[in-house]
Amino acid sequence: MDTIASSAILNDGIIDGRLAARMVRKDVKQDVLSLRAEGIHPRVAFIRVGDDPASEVYVGAKVKACGWVGIRSEHVHLPDGTTQEELAGVINELNDDKETDAVLIQLPLPDSVGTKAALNLINPLKDVDGFHPTNLGGLLAGHGPLEPCTPSGVMRLIEMMGLNLVGKHAVVVGRSVIVGRPLAAMLARAHATVTLCHRHTANLKDHVRQADVLVVATGVTGLIRGDWIKPGAYVFDVGITRCEDGKLRGDVRFDEALERAAGITPVPGGVGPMTIARLLENTVRCARLVRGLQEPSIHRA
Ligand code: GUN
Repeated sequence: MDTIASSAILNDGIIDGRLAARMVRKDVKQDVLSLRAEGIHPRVAFIRVGDDPASEVYVGAKVKACGWVGIRSEHVHLPDGTTQEELAGVINELNDDKETDAVLIQLPLPDSVGTKAALNLINPLKDVDGFHPTNLGGLLAGHGPLEPCTPSGVMRLIEMMGLNLVGKHAVVVGRSVIVGRPLAAMLARAHATVTLCHRHTANLKDHVRQADVLVVATGVTGLIRGDWIKPGAYVFDVGITRCEDGKLRGDVRFDEALERAAGITPVPGGVGPMTIARLLENTVRCARLVRGLQEPSIHRA
């Protein structure tokens, strides 16, 4: 790739998502202080249903990060077997609560409740994850006020690294509503040529080999082999799976890929911290949106 990424967050080919997230959080903390001076103390509610162990860890990390920047948070934990009506009741209560600026439903939800129906109930102005159809539509129409945190975290890393996407070939593997589909839209908005691959894509390897920028979000550990990576490519690994040996691994074979890539995000410590940093930014945005306040200048990639 002819655009050289030179940045504090790229060291020996490793993209330091933790450092990038710290830089974002510094700005969020400042934003929270400004809001507090106006008498506004942002607050986000995390809804978790059932006992998925990974979800418990993720929500815990989100609560902790809120504390670092002075955002108030509430963790609403509902038991397995919660009905759609019960969950709807909780969402509606939080939608109506003047003290709550932002609402997040941790995914995946258990089978007893419908994910789409639940997400669609969140007040779009409080939709901190940006998963409501109104916000996903806003993204396709241009810049939505609230955009999904993982893809916007990847875009922010790209921006912080000084990567110019104009005319570059970006390949996204995974077409989820949470990551792949919104990310494809964001990359196209940044003037990349985008290929969106998924489980039915024939000859995945041949597509991956074309990628100047590769983003993988499949949840299939080690799916992408190092010799599939185009030399000099930038690789963003969204996958994170705890393996039988207790280690967290991504969808890309990191050691192999590092030999060819100009930059790659590690797992953990790559995309994950940026997802949470974006969540904090979105919470501040929600606090302004629900009050009809003008948005401050927004960092957008
Ligand atoms: N589960 C995995 N990723 C996410 C995310 O970005 N948001 C929510 N709410 N749940 C998730």
